[in-house]
Amino acid sequence: MTQQPIRVALIFGGVSSEHEISCLTAGGVAREIDSARFEVVGVGIAKDGRWLRVPLERIKALEVADGRLPVVDPDYPEALLLRSDQGGQIATRKGDRLEDLQDFDVAFTLLHGPFGEDGTVQGLFEMLAIRYVGAGVAASAIGMDKDLMKRSMVAAGLPVGPWKTFSSAEWERDQQRWADEVAGLGYPVFVKPARGGSSVGISRVDDPAALAGAVAEAQLHDPKVLVEKGLVGCREIEVAVLGGHDGLAPRASLPGEIIIHDKGSFYDFNAKYLPQQQVSLAIPAELPADTTARLRELAVRTFTVMNVEGLARIDLFLCADGEAYVNELNTMPGFTRLSMFPQLWAATGLSYPDLVAELIELALARPLGLR
Ligand SMILES: Nc1ncnc2c1ncn2[C@@H]1O[C@H](COP(=O)(O)OP(=O)(O)O)[C@@H](O)[C@H]1O
Ligand SMILES: [Mg+2]
Repeated sequence: MTQQPIRVALIFGGVSSEHEISCLTAGGVAREIDSARFEVVGVGIAKDGRWLRVPLERIKALEVADGRLPVVDPDYPEALLLRSDQGGQIATRKGDRLEDLQDFDVAFTLLHGPFGEDGTVQGLFEMLAIRYVGAGVAASAIGMDKDLMKRSMVAAGLPVGPWKTFSSAEWERDQQRWADEVAGLGYPVFVKPARGGSSVGISRVDDPAALAGAVAEAQLHDPKVLVEKGLVGCREIEVAVLGGHDGLAPRASLPGEIIIHDKGSFYDFNAKYLPQQQVSLAIPAELPADTTARLRELAVRTFTVMNVEGLARIDLFLCADGEAYVNELNTMPGFTRLSMFPQLWAATGLSYPDLVAELIELALARPLGLR
């Protein structure tokens, strides 16, 4: 008896600044997913937000070509998401008719940033009773907002460095007050848009005179801005976590390290996407066994108390005095074959195709509705 393949709606692209990275990821997943077990229904979200029907062969072709990153071609026919008895359904809209209706069992969104990683698309699936890979609405939304995220982490007793948050109105009303509060954190500080990613809009500020400029830069991306105490001289360690099966505990990968060669700089956009010897990844990180165990435990605890499901990359700082802090939680971490999350799992014994299958299985095993 041959088993029916599991039908997976692969949803990628999106309206955030990470559209191209998402397309790159979709190419990798489409090429490597076990085609004997999974049948892919492709939906690309164009930069203007329209959902489009993209054939699998075209998703497989999404790669860097002539030094350019791939995008969702806006000329594909329009796709509609519908509810069906067993999950979801994708249809192609032709004028006022629907064609080529295709049921699917589970949605796999490879979207990063706002309108994808932030609970919005997860809410859509919840409303339609469609199973989906990854964190639910609340954990996704909280994970996307660095201020809500840190407040929840502090309330749950996780180690988080000190920070201040203000809206653009609060900043305008009393810049001196905020400058004093920031001075109280101690320079250097990191200024960030609350709901950003890929280090976009983030500055390190060493001199109080440069604070206002860095806030203005962050405000270009989000009216809500965070200023954090700079955790200088700390190592940047990342741990990939997967949800547990059958009520068992989540599983942590071996830790990896981001090694930045220029001491005064940080893991900014260029270092992430245009690495020219400024940064290297150590997978696994070189750490004493007890530190490795402590960081894996901290990552699992973060995943659990923040109510994450499916997957997350937990980013930590390990400081010279041995203290570890949680920097952030990414509910849809970079997921190309070369990204930290899949590489950490490969180092821990789970290959890229097996990781994709595992995420889909976790999503299928999850009950619908309130969990
Ligand atoms: N408080 C901090 N102390 C030291 N370095 C920081 C701090 N916050 C951010 N950084 C540096 O900036 C990078 C990006 O910040 P992060 O909060 O991870 O934003 P993003 O969500 O864009 O990845 C980090 O990987 C780290 O190199
Ligand atoms: Mg980060």
